[in-house]
Amino acid sequence: MIDINDLINPINLKNLDMNEINFFSEIPDLYFDDQNPLTLKQSEFYNDVKFPNYDDIEDFATLLDKSRNSIFVNKLDNEIRYHSRVLEAGCGTGQLSIALSRYNRKIHAIDLSKGSLIDGKKFIDKNNIKNVQFYRMNIFNLCFPKNYFDIIISNGVLHHTHNAELAFNKLSEKLKPGGIIVIGLYHKYGRIVQNIRQYFIKKFGEKLKFIDKRFSENISEKKKYAWFKDQYYNPHETKHTYFEIINWFKKNNIEFINSIPFNFNINDKLFDKKSILNKNELFFKEISLMFDLRQIYEGGFFVMIGKKNPDPS
Ligand SMILES: C[S@@+](CC[C@H](N)C(=O)[O-])C[C@H]1O[C@@H](n2cnc3c(N)ncnc32)[C@H](O)[C@@H]1O
Repeated sequence: MIDINDLINPINLKNLDMNEINFFSEIPDLYFDDQNPLTLKQSEFYNDVKFPNYDDIEDFATLLDKSRNSIFVNKLDNEIRYHSRVLEAGCGTGQLSIALSRYNRKIHAIDLSKGSLIDGKKFIDKNNIKNVQFYRMNIFNLCFPKNYFDIIISNGVLHHTHNAELAFNKLSEKLKPGGIIVIGLYHKYGRIVQNIRQYFIKKFGEKLKFIDKRFSENISEKKKYAWFKDQYYNPHETKHTYFEIINWFKKNNIEFINSIPFNFNINDKLFDKKSILNKNELFFKEISLMFDLRQIYEGGFFVMIGKKNPDPS
């Protein structure tokens, strides 16, 4: 069980008096501004667009059942060690954090969006989950000590910030040597079909919604609303490539481990080390993402996994 005082004490609060910490719904508000207007804009945007939504999830058992359908979540849950200290940065409503919360792991879940965090907090309170702690916090101003986490996960977040590479650097600082970082980002080519849809929907309006298959699916209106806003009206998004992230890894003393879909093999472990692909192999794999139906459905996404090397000194 996580005791809030145990959590706050090790956090580097830059001379902040403990009595000055604001709470909302018992969630510490440790947001510090980074002087870029986009961060507050995203905070407002995601206060309205709560992601992912809990409509079809009654309780913890339902959430675990749902996460069993995801190979990614299953593999994470099988491979993250017992008792690990995990940070989910940009957790939204916290479903991934909650899905990974068994085995006495200590999960710290941060986001900008009060609305999303409140939904997550209500869920953990209702289901008596004690080892997930939510905070409102900005990736650019993380209130945790350096080298603090065994695992850091940030899925679908950095590409919505004003500087994805800087956000990655900030996260890397908080990873222990030997710790694993898992980053999900929009892909430069994988997202091309989605960019074409964005163009038509922005130009001709919502009457063209049908070009996105999600709108004909049997999912709640709230889910459709969140998807629609997130995909078509997000204040900011950037797109990235495999080698760009390999470069981020190098600059942060992080060794490449695996990537989905490029190096991924369903029979292997997620955290088993793979070789970095050569440029020719990768060229075809990256280009083929444009025509991959799953990528087209999910909006063009890839995941990069790295492991922090020991400090060079
Ligand atoms: C598309 S949602 C993804 C939510 C969740 N990770 C998922 O996969 O469903 C992006 C989330 O990133 C959060 N976010 C964006 N910029 C952030 C920042 N600077 N610090 C913390 N969270 C941020 C947003 O508030 C939002 O909840």
